[in-house]
Amino acid sequence: MTAQFPAARPRRLRRTPAMRRMVTGVRLHPAELILPLFVKEGISEQQPVGSMPGVVQHTRDSLLKAVHEAAEAGVGSVMLFGVPEEKDAYGSAADDPEGITQVALREVTAEFGDALVVGADTCLDEVTDHGHCGVLAPDGTVDNDLTLERYASMAVAQARAGSQLISPSGMMDGQVRAIRRALDGAGFAEVPILAYSAKYASGFYGPFRDAVELPKNFGDRKAYQQDPAGPVGESLREVALDVAEGADMVMVKPAGAYLDVLHQVKAMVDVPVAAYQVSGEYAMIEAAAANGWIDRERAIMESLIAIRRAGADLILTYWATEVARRL
Ligand code: PBG
Repeated sequence: MTAQFPAARPRRLRRTPAMRRMVTGVRLHPAELILPLFVKEGISEQQPVGSMPGVVQHTRDSLLKAVHEAAEAGVGSVMLFGVPEEKDAYGSAADDPEGITQVALREVTAEFGDALVVGADTCLDEVTDHGHCGVLAPDGTVDNDLTLERYASMAVAQARAGSQLISPSGMMDGQVRAIRRALDGAGFAEVPILAYSAKYASGFYGPFRDAVELPKNFGDRKAYQQDPAGPVGESLREVALDVAEGADMVMVKPAGAYLDVLHQVKAMVDVPVAAYQVSGEYAMIEAAAANGWIDRERAIMESLIAIRRAGADLILTYWATEVARRL
């Protein structure tokens, strides 16, 4: 007599929508989504970002409306990127109490600070005329330690303006420690840090340059962001350093092309892990969908599910409000 093996039939669990819904492994929740928002100083009408269809540079008023919509949809957090009218080499707008990011933080937290977490990008590239994430040394390279002083001052200015989440994204060595010290010293020990820990020098940031108006001749960030071809261990080291310096959450960025990194980071740390679906990831799907080449909603959901499945606890995405409504 031959043994009767039960036939393996994985398709049994795929047969009906109800069966598939029951066994699905990955679910998104609106509270895990973080919406990046751009706000431009001194404009009276919101400005479309050409390379990011559907994304705009907000006025202060339209920003409030966008945050309201995000809160209504249950989005977990908004991350503000302020674009000043005047930029300079030092990034003076970064820690000016009247700088656009601080003004916007005050207005948004006053209205919505209980409904969702309000934070801002803590970096200099949006406010410097050269477009680098730090202060330049005479030889044109970014001076790490002078930049740390700027970040510390910027983080305190943001916290004073009501920021509930400080997000250093400049990839300077020691930035989390410098910011943590400054926040604690200024009475903001309760304000957490979401560190952009493993951030690659990526071509997928292209459209973001339009959104924050980087100078046309801007070079690259390869002297401070990671090499896409570098070993994953380099990311693990960056993450471990940030956690040791006091990061409350860590981030991998970009998301889609770095799912392996995300997966390994998630396995290593016990703090929440975020992933940033960046401007280029957004633009690619929007452009293909606009041409009728892919099903927009399916591609958006699939891209987010993949990021979640790889290990992200939180996802920054320009589709946060739209997706939260659909969930
Ligand atoms: C740095 C910063 C960048 C992005 C977010 N924060 C640009 C960069 O690091 O080069 C890119 C986000 C995106 O492409 O959506 N302040």
